[in-house]
Amino acid sequence: MTSEAIDNLSREDRRFEPPADLAADANVKADAYETASADRLAFWEEQAKRLDWETPWEQVLDWSGAPFAKWFVGGRINAAYNCVDRHVEAGKGDKVAFHWVGEPEDDTRDITYAELKDEVCKAANALLELGVQSSDRVAIYMPMIPETVVAMLACARIGAPHTVVFGGFSSQALIDRIHDCDARVVITADGGYRRGEPAGLKPAVDTALEQCPDVRSVLVVRRTGQDVDWTEGRDVWWHELVDGQSAEHTPEAFDSEHPLYVMYTSGTTGKPKGILHTTGGYLVGTSYTHWAVFDLKPDTDVYWTAADIGWVTGHSYIVYGPLANGTTSVMYEGTPDTPHKGRWWEIISTYKVNILYCAPTAIRTFMKWGAEIPEKYDMSTLRVIGSVGEPINPEAYVWYRETIGGGRCPVVDTWWQTETGQIMISPLPGVTAGKPGSAMTPLPGIEAKVVDDEGNPVGNGHGGYLVLTEPWPAMLRGIWNDDERFKETYWSRFKDMYFAGDGAKLDDDGDIWLLGRVDDVMNVSGHRMSTTEIESALVSHPKVAEAAVVGANDPDTGQAVHAYVILRESAGDGGPEVVQELRDHVANEIGKIARPKSIMVVPELPKTRSGKIMRRLLRDVAENREVGDVTTLADTSIMDKISAGMQDAK
Ligand code: WT7
Repeated sequence: MTSEAIDNLSREDRRFEPPADLAADANVKADAYETASADRLAFWEEQAKRLDWETPWEQVLDWSGAPFAKWFVGGRINAAYNCVDRHVEAGKGDKVAFHWVGEPEDDTRDITYAELKDEVCKAANALLELGVQSSDRVAIYMPMIPETVVAMLACARIGAPHTVVFGGFSSQALIDRIHDCDARVVITADGGYRRGEPAGLKPAVDTALEQCPDVRSVLVVRRTGQDVDWTEGRDVWWHELVDGQSAEHTPEAFDSEHPLYVMYTSGTTGKPKGILHTTGGYLVGTSYTHWAVFDLKPDTDVYWTAADIGWVTGHSYIVYGPLANGTTSVMYEGTPDTPHKGRWWEIISTYKVNILYCAPTAIRTFMKWGAEIPEKYDMSTLRVIGSVGEPINPEAYVWYRETIGGGRCPVVDTWWQTETGQIMISPLPGVTAGKPGSAMTPLPGIEAKVVDDEGNPVGNGHGGYLVLTEPWPAMLRGIWNDDERFKETYWSRFKDMYFAGDGAKLDDDGDIWLLGRVDDVMNVSGHRMSTTEIESALVSHPKVAEAAVVGANDPDTGQAVHAYVILRESAGDGGPEVVQELRDHVANEIGKIARPKSIMVVPELPKTRSGKIMRRLLRDVAENREVGDVTTLADTSIMDKISAGMQDAK
């Protein structure tokens, strides 16, 4: 974030108190903070009672193997049973679990808990028939359809950790993930609907599997009816294998620490990290925070996380948290502007949605489209609205609060990460006043601090690095197959503290303001990307000799990817066709979301004498600022050349 943006934040002094009626009836009151800080483990032990355990735990937390945590040690539990069966057994079988809305209009399905249970059992039986055993990994590459949830829960039910790969990722990304976690079965669909068109998924799986000989089965949902290639003996239609299975399946309880899933996320190196989440603690952390942060009333609320299941937000707050709480959720397949720009608001008014959770990048887009669009719809049912994924700028916060929340709904700005599994820092809607741009305070049971370079807590009014100082139930249990990288990435920067990679500031009241990443990780439209990962993709192109990538502030997407490349001589002078070719190459290697907004062909890159690329200077160029201190460059004239090239390009 630029110093100008930080100054703007410092001048932000608006406060919105919780509405009196919501506060009076809130699930969580102010005393929760005291209860939790008096005895943190007793607090989490209490929260664990919201789940059904086959065998109770003997110990709440075993931290003796730090930083590898064990929560609810000795407990045995089945995640799918907790998300589905127990609600049916409690007489809520007719309750809607999902109001699913396909992108094509009128393509909708309501799925009750009883139906979900049958589907999950059938899919579990199908996976068993395919030879999937507990602990085998299953890759899921799907559009936003009910079968995606069914597939995840079926895996959880039989103890096979899933790894969901976002449908927007390329076949190369799929290959890397399948290899890294050694998945033997892939669940996919022919395609999904995107902007009014069927968009294929199966072709990417076919391409990927040319390089994944160990994958023996591909289970394919028919969603769009597109033509697909078929590999006999490997590919099976979902409707042929799953639909005919028995709807009876007895869930087996697994150890609380049994792996539930692996979710890949970008780090500071080229290779995405497989973040490992396990069962008991993860369900406790997600179900508690879903209930507390959104003030969820499970019997009456309709809840909507408008995110993709391919990200952790979808895992924790479309699937596991809401279902563990027996929630009725909306799930939407498509884009917000198909077939018209009021689609989200139409969905909210149709299903009388009470709670909406989405990303600032979406809010900024809606702002650009204009308030007159949402104003056409009745959104008076909304009670609480949430934000996640990137810092929300005060203008977007206030617009969201006024235009979408009608000025009456508290905005919960929730900070967390793929690694944390659960929301960590957020206002509580019935307790905490909202300040536009601040995630406010750690939730009850969570300990976070802002520290300086030496790891000492900074005082109010000062900035530094965000750290988490005590383990929490849904925390990652490691990086798949890479214990060293886990310790190195998160636990080596500061002693005995989890280093989140975010800069933060405490205001005069001690409330937390997140300032963006302090490492080489970018945040584009709430999607996490690594500069090095995109650089590797660029360098893998035969025309590129060297590449440097920066994330520069962008009014629409938060940050945008800007690349600087040195071409090989054989590539010619780098006209617009080459630039286009390279942008497409990145989209093919990683996914469209990683496609650079700009690529500039440069004669050289700014490097220190030790050869480290000074991305800070390139960010200055991309953000149209005067270039900062160049004295540590090996060749101080290089920035003049790059800036001159930039002027020419305009
Ligand atoms: C990074 C984590 C959390 C699920 C979606 C993203 C940024 C996330 C906020 C927020 C400021 C935020 C951080 C964090 N971030 N939420 N409310 N305010 N920044 O998960 O892909 O693992 O990314 O997103 O930089 O480290 P993720």
